[in-house]
Amino acid sequence: MIRLDKVSKQFPTGVFALSDISFEIGKGEFVFLVGPTGSGKTTIFRLLTREILPTTGEIIVDNFDIAKLPNNKISHLRKKIGVVFQDLKLLMDRTIFENIALPLEVSDIDSIAATKIVEDIMEKVGILAHRDKFPIQLSGGELQRAAIARALTLKPDIVLADEPTGNLDQATAVEIVKLLLDINSTGTTIIMATHNEDVVKALSKRVIILDKGELVGKDGKKLNTSTEHSEKKSAIINVEDSKLEDKPGAKSEDKPEEKIKPVTKKENEDEDF
Ligand SMILES: Nc1ncnc2c1ncn2[C@@H]1O[C@H](COP(=O)(O)OP(=O)(O)OP(=O)(O)O)[C@@H](O)[C@H]1O
Ligand SMILES: [Mg+2]
Repeated sequence: MIRLDKVSKQFPTGVFALSDISFEIGKGEFVFLVGPTGSGKTTIFRLLTREILPTTGEIIVDNFDIAKLPNNKISHLRKKIGVVFQDLKLLMDRTIFENIALPLEVSDIDSIAATKIVEDIMEKVGILAHRDKFPIQLSGGELQRAAIARALTLKPDIVLADEPTGNLDQATAVEIVKLLLDINSTGTTIIMATHNEDVVKALSKRVIILDKGELVGKDGKKLNTSTEHSEKKSAIINVEDSKLEDKPGAKSEDKPEEKIKPVTKKENEDEDF
């Protein structure tokens, strides 16, 4: 469903945010995208939504070839992808309901149907009680839920969640991840960018680790990551797929607390790029 093939992104400043990245994510998967600040996580999300174009390489999302996508097809692509932005991007002068309803404004759905869609989503993510409040009146966790709700409004096949636990305490972070797992259990593909190692370690999900934009490992195998952009080391590691059963419909709470072997940069310190 999502495939990056030898993707590099150089910004006009000369910075290589991504160098020679290749990975695939299947329909219905839940994948963590992990890496230190500046490692290229948000850049990958911006490429997947065609906000920016790759410098080289091929990106396929569903049936869309991102680099070759004509402008009049970009809205089709974006309807398939819900984005939970790192900075949330909620409009402060609109209520939570209005924020979540925003994506429907450009659709031809009538207001009664739109209200039902939005209220159903608000209930699902647990913020219906905050329907008519403004963003400033909500806690960080509630705002994060509102941003997730807005990403779900158009019933996307894919959700890109950029640091959705970034400013939250651990208990709230776990609640947010449970919500994302719940959404994933209904078939939605989820990529979650995070710094939160505890969350990543607690869940047996594939992990892609970036470090300054290069792939260091995939499907449990080390990769030779030496590239022409050697000053920009980067890394992706995929933790072996879960021993947990990711059965459709299985709730995260149903899953055993499995201690998976954490994949950290440390394990790859012997790799020189
Ligand atoms: N528009 C831009 N112009 C120039 N450089 C950019 C631009 N956007 C990102 N970069 C650079 O690209 C690299 C990757 O940035 P990116 O935002 O993808 O990192 P990130 O992994 O999301 O970091 P964080 O965890 O802090 O959110 C960084 O070195 C950043 O400074
Ligand atoms: Mg980022």
